[in-house]
Amino acid sequence: MNPNPEFPADFLWGAATAAYQVEGSPLADGAGASIWHRFSHTPGRVANGDTGDVACDHYNRYQADVKLMRQLGLTAYRFSISWSRVLPDGTGQINHDGLDFYRRLVDELLESGIKPMATLYHWDLPAALDDRGGWLNRDIADWFADYARIMFEALDDRVAMWATLNEPWVVTDGGYLHGVLAPGHRSLFEPPLATHNLLRSHAAAVAAYRTMGKNQIGIVVNLEPKYAATQNREDLEATVRADVYMNRQVLDPLFFGEYPPELGQMFGPAWPRFPEEDFALLRQPVDFIGINYYKRGVTANDPDVLLERAKRIAPPRSTYTSTDWEVCPEALTDILLWVTERYGKIPLYITENGAAFYDPPTAINGRVEDPLRLDYLRTHLLAARQAIAQGVDLRGYFVWSLLDNFEWAHGYSKRFGIVHVDYTTQARTIKDSGKFYAEVIRSAGRALQK
Ligand code: BGC
Repeated sequence: MNPNPEFPADFLWGAATAAYQVEGSPLADGAGASIWHRFSHTPGRVANGDTGDVACDHYNRYQADVKLMRQLGLTAYRFSISWSRVLPDGTGQINHDGLDFYRRLVDELLESGIKPMATLYHWDLPAALDDRGGWLNRDIADWFADYARIMFEALDDRVAMWATLNEPWVVTDGGYLHGVLAPGHRSLFEPPLATHNLLRSHAAAVAAYRTMGKNQIGIVVNLEPKYAATQNREDLEATVRADVYMNRQVLDPLFFGEYPPELGQMFGPAWPRFPEEDFALLRQPVDFIGINYYKRGVTANDPDVLLERAKRIAPPRSTYTSTDWEVCPEALTDILLWVTERYGKIPLYITENGAAFYDPPTAINGRVEDPLRLDYLRTHLLAARQAIAQGVDLRGYFVWSLLDNFEWAHGYSKRFGIVHVDYTTQARTIKDSGKFYAEVIRSAGRALQK
């Protein structure tokens, strides 16, 4: 093994955000409401009653934010498009004022030499489509493909990389099984239907792209390698269930044209019979897979846990973030190798990686010290480089997140940014982790060694 592997010369050094988490002004200039607008305005759904009404005000401050990106030396930026800004009803009439925001953003990025990666869906379904069944309605594959075509038509001359969906597993697990994310359903029967329609929608957008697109398209999944807490048969089987549910449920159908058979057993009578002809359509070749990695899952058997019958163990000597996520960089190397071995040597991007730690609410003497986040980034980038040395075709890394932002059901209580946001003044301050990341970029990774 090469002890000093390098990042490829054209490796992309990026940061990521998502529309509802940073933009603010969700109804501006003719935009329609999204399910997150609705959810966050429903009492009791989001911590402290926080909403995305203002967020980081990126909708108005995008130019200054692109300047920040330039200051950091980013070579790529991953953002998402709000479907209901472009199509207020989800289908039909285009709202050009909403679409123009993304035109301006992309132009600004290109002028700064920053490559855009646009995600078409990062959880903010048009509320009007939710009223028609949302992800439970099979027609959504057509609605999504129509929306995707509008975006390809408008921006494919300038957007180098498209991601169809962000984390379909989280959409269904959080939104349809446990109800902690929009649209807040709690059902055992809905998640498989929603997952299937998400995958059909992804595939329909990729198929549309092949008829008109000139660049690259892929999907973004969150993966969490599962390790058995003990070698007991019960724990080993529980670990398989957890792995099937979270990691293989999305990628197996896209690459192999079938769901892992264990899912049928896990869902029991809630597992539907899907039309056979769907499966060939799901296997649209993608140009890359985007992987969001935050933590691993040490797993033990627990018959009382819904569906998975598996629980997460918190190893006592580990470090935990303020979302209680175990810090484990080695698992990032493992998951990149696993994807490459299981699905083939396809180009990969780490499309999200980062950590929420407690940061002071305002900068002190112009500085925000965040040593734990800095170390998280350093160790995970080293782990990514290790995977490259072991043969993974890793093409880029996007830190989550550029800015502190609206962390879904946690509201503004968790900070993931490498740039601090003071929510009362909207002042931005590059944290120590951001300065470190800039140094890593400038040195093409050599600063990781120090
Ligand atoms: C999501 C982000 C989120 C991050 C941290 C990912 O699951 O894509 O939107 O902020 O994790 O929780």
